[in-house]
Amino acid sequence: MNKNLILVCVAIVGLTLTGCRGYRSEKPPIHPNPNFDWQSKVKPQRDPLTVPEGTVAWGDSQSFTGIHKRSEFLKDDNRFYQGKETSGAFVAKAPVAVTSELLLRGQERFNIYCAVCHDQTGAGKGLVISRGFAPPPDLADSRIVDMKDGELFGIISHGVRSMPAYAKQIREEDRWAIVLYVRALQQARNATIENVPVGLRSNIK
Ligand code: HEC
Repeated sequence: MNKNLILVCVAIVGLTLTGCRGYRSEKPPIHPNPNFDWQSKVKPQRDPLTVPEGTVAWGDSQSFTGIHKRSEFLKDDNRFYQGKETSGAFVAKAPVAVTSELLLRGQERFNIYCAVCHDQTGAGKGLVISRGFAPPPDLADSRIVDMKDGELFGIISHGVRSMPAYAKQIREEDRWAIVLYVRALQQARNATIENVPVGLRSNIK
């Protein structure tokens, strides 16, 4: 056998016998990526106030649900939250104060949530439709113009046939803002030259 090979074998056997002597350490093993492994633990906070018997906690301004008013929690205003009278009939007019601010909010929300299908004019030629989704009716159709505000609110909240529901994504106030904006679109789309102030008519080509 080759002399060098014998030397190598002896070295390997020697190292194996002397290298591992069962040495134990009391120190913790090397921990290359400590992350948060050794931070002090914090127990979850307990609510210092006990809820009085016979009452329901409904959140506060710090609540992550975003509920700030008792009425928002109870949702017992049928007209605002369901768009319906106590009799069950749809409300004729949106139960909100119509301001230009709310209309602009409605425009913004409509363009975010509805225009993908209904397009920004409400004609129903949105991008989703151009990719093969069931086409919606023109929102300026007389059938939809004649609907009560509460019915439009209900359509946004619960969807209708192939249209999905938006109650989870759009809160009530914004749904009413959208209803108002749909009304504005209908008026604009169905407007005639008679609706334009005389002095401005020449601007229209
Ligand atoms: C994913 C596409 C899509 C989106 C987004 C969408 N709609 Fe629709 N919408 C439809 C379709 C499709 C119909 C027709 C439903 C049917 O008749 O099957 C429809 C119908 C309607 C109608 C008429 C209902 C009827 O009785 O004929 C109204 C009003 C309406 N949508 C309003 C809205 C408003 C307001 C929004 C935004 C909050 C919205 N839609 C968002 C697809 C959509």
